[in-house]
Amino acid sequence: MGTPVPPSESAREGYVRRMVAAHRPGGPLAGAFYTSADIFREDLARLWSRHWLYAGHSCQIPRPGDWFTYAIGADSVIVLRDERGEVRAFHNTCRHRGSRVCPGEAGSGRRLTCPYHAWSYGLDGRLLMDSKADFGLDRSELSLHPVKARNVAGLLFIALSDDPVPFEHAFADIERKLRPHGLERAKLAHKIDYAVKANWKLIFENNRECYHCAPNHPEYVKATYDVARDDAHHDPKRVAEVDRLVDEANARFRALGLDEGDALSAMTDEHWRCRRAPLMKGFTTQSLDGKPVAPLMGDFKERDAGTLRITIFPNFWQHANDDYACSTRLTPVGPAETHVRVAWYVDGEAVEGKDYTLDRLLPVWQRTSEQDWDICQWNQQGVSSSRYVPGRYSLTREQNVAHFVDWYLREIAR
Ligand code: FES
Ligand SMILES: [Fe+2]
Repeated sequence: MGTPVPPSESAREGYVRRMVAAHRPGGPLAGAFYTSADIFREDLARLWSRHWLYAGHSCQIPRPGDWFTYAIGADSVIVLRDERGEVRAFHNTCRHRGSRVCPGEAGSGRRLTCPYHAWSYGLDGRLLMDSKADFGLDRSELSLHPVKARNVAGLLFIALSDDPVPFEHAFADIERKLRPHGLERAKLAHKIDYAVKANWKLIFENNRECYHCAPNHPEYVKATYDVARDDAHHDPKRVAEVDRLVDEANARFRALGLDEGDALSAMTDEHWRCRRAPLMKGFTTQSLDGKPVAPLMGDFKERDAGTLRITIFPNFWQHANDDYACSTRLTPVGPAETHVRVAWYVDGEAVEGKDYTLDRLLPVWQRTSEQDWDICQWNQQGVSSSRYVPGRYSLTREQNVAHFVDWYLREIAR
C-alpha cells in the first residue's frame, strides 16, 4: 500500500522509521501496517522474535518423550517433556544438513530422529551418535539449538531470541493467580483451528475493546461487565451499580482465598495482564445460561470464582472460569492471514458425555470467537481499500486499542 518499499536493509529500516513517524496518535495504523509483506517481515523479525510466545498447554505433553511443534514464520520449535519431566524446547532444524527433525505436529518417543539421514537426538537435545570420526566434529558441538521455554501453571511459553524481553515478573503473577485453577491437571476437551484472513494486529486490536461487543456478541455480553462498564461512562447510576457488584464479588474471591479483581479491561503492565473479573449476577461461568458446564477445576470447592483473564501481547489470551478455561493462540502466517487456535480445557478427570458435553461447553467462546473473526476479516478488507484513511479511537471505549498500537509502534521502531 502507498509508499513503494526499497529492497536494501537500511532502506527498509528507513521505511519502517518513516511509517512509524507518520502515525497520528489516537487512531488506527496506516493501511501498510496491515497489508505490506515488508512490514509483516519486520513484525516477525523485530517483535515476534523477541517476545515470549504462548506455544501450547502442558497436557499436550503429559509424559517424558511427548512433543509437539509450533511454527512462527520460518522457524519451527519442538516443545517436549524430558526424562526428568521438565518442559524443554529446541529449534526444529537438524545439525547435519538442516532438515526438520520433527516434520509432524506432535508425537512421542525417547529420541528425536531426523527423517533425512536418521541422526538421533536425546530429549536433552544432544546428538546420540559418535560424530568425530566421520564428520570431524565432536557430538557435543552438534546438539539441537535450545529455545527458551517456561511452564507457567500449565501454560507453555517459548522465546525465539536468546535474550527475550524480560518477563519473569509476569510469569510469577500469572503462576500465583492461575495455580488454583489446576490447569496442570486439566485435559484438552476440544480445539478448533481457524485460518483468519486478517493481520494479527487487527485481531489483537479487536480483542482490546468491547465497543463492538453489544452489536456483535449477544452470548458474551450476558455474562460479563465489559459493556456495562462502557455504558457506565455515560450513566453515573451504572458506575455505582457496577462498583458495588465488583466489591461483592471481591469479598467472595477473598473468602475463596483468591486474588481480587475488577471489571476493567486495561493491562496490568505494559503488554500483559492477569486479572480476575467478576461475572454478571446469576453467572458462575461463561455459559449460555450462567450455569456450570463442567466439574470444578483445580483447588476450587465452591462455584463462582469469576473469570481469570490473561492477555499477553502478541499472541495469547485466556479466560479461566472455575469449571473450564478457554485459550486463544495467534500465529501470524502472512500480512493478511493469521492462524488462530481456540482450545477448551476441563478437569483432567472429567468424562465427556457424563461430566460435560461439548454442546454446553463450547457455545459462548466458539460463537464469540467466530463473530470476532468475521469482524476482523471485514476490517482487513476495509483497510486494504485504496480509500482507507485511519479514523479516530473513542476516548472512553477504545483507549486500550490505542495502548496496543502505541506498544506495537515502540516495539517495531526498536
Ligand atoms: S539432515 Fe538430519 S540427518 Fe541429515
Ligand atoms: Fe469481540
